[in-house]
Amino acid sequence: MNTKKQDMIIEVNDLVKTYLLGKERVRALRGVDFTINRGEIVIIVGSSGSGKSTLLNMLAGLEKPTKGNIEILGHNIAKMSENKLTKFRQKHIGFIFQSYNLLPTMTALQNVSLPLVFKGVAVKQREREAAKLLSAVGLKTHMFHKPTQMSGGQQQRVGIARAFAGSPEIVFADEPTGNLDSKTSLKVMDLIAQLARKKRQTLIMVTHDRALIPYGDQVIDILDGKIQTITKKAEGGSCEIDKEDDTTGNSNSVDDINSCQCSDQCHRDTVRS
Ligand SMILES: Nc1ncnc2c1ncn2[C@@H]1O[C@H](COP(=O)(O)OP(=O)(O)OP(=O)(O)O)[C@@H](O)[C@H]1O
Ligand SMILES: [Mg+2]
Repeated sequence: MNTKKQDMIIEVNDLVKTYLLGKERVRALRGVDFTINRGEIVIIVGSSGSGKSTLLNMLAGLEKPTKGNIEILGHNIAKMSENKLTKFRQKHIGFIFQSYNLLPTMTALQNVSLPLVFKGVAVKQREREAAKLLSAVGLKTHMFHKPTQMSGGQQQRVGIARAFAGSPEIVFADEPTGNLDSKTSLKVMDLIAQLARKKRQTLIMVTHDRALIPYGDQVIDILDGKIQTITKKAEGGSCEIDKEDDTTGNSNSVDDINSCQCSDQCHRDTVRS
């Protein structure tokens, strides 16, 4: 069997999302195609309003596309009923939000335990797993703190631990460092990447922060609802670029090399200050 096909975890075909605002049509996504392999870190970048969150929300099954297919782990989630989708998300998907979305009346431990409650994990076991994850994100001493008793960076680390609870195959993150300063951002991003790599979980993250691009195995750059470039980090650190409108067929043009993120990726470890 083809190992490439076996490794593929997400396939998106001709994805279109049009919102109706009164009589006006907002074409948030205008025909998007790509594939993602198991264990990849995928960074989706683009300017404000380019369609990043729309794309992520559809991949995570939070919104339905107007047209097109999204196949995740062999299931076409665009056609799934809401009931099945909820169960699918609980089983396979974690989500990190920009504004943390922690439950204010719960402690860090209770917040991280929550996805395990939905998975039917017994109390003792879920407390054990939540405590382990909180230790992994450096919050061993803050397990019984409530969100208001923690800094932004600490709250986001709780949000990260929660997203990884139950080891979902895919973790989505929409601007997870958007509310943090640049130094904390890189630390938090380090943590997310480390957790994802540890169990070969797939991470799909939206950001407008180009400093985070070096973390991506695949970088999808979108503009006005269309993919501009897909940059893939090949084995050994070299770089492959797919350009949507490349009619020259010359993948080694100076423009391509100049826009290639590979040189940054090769210095992944020096990014951290
Ligand atoms: N529910 C909605 N109804 C109507 N239009 C919407 C809706 N959600 C998004 N849009 C529009 O779709 C386009 C893409 O929005 P989206 O939120 O995906 O952008 P984004 O790339 O995530 O931007 P940002 O970086 O500012 O978060 C924008 O023009 C936005 O106004
Ligand atoms: Mg957005």
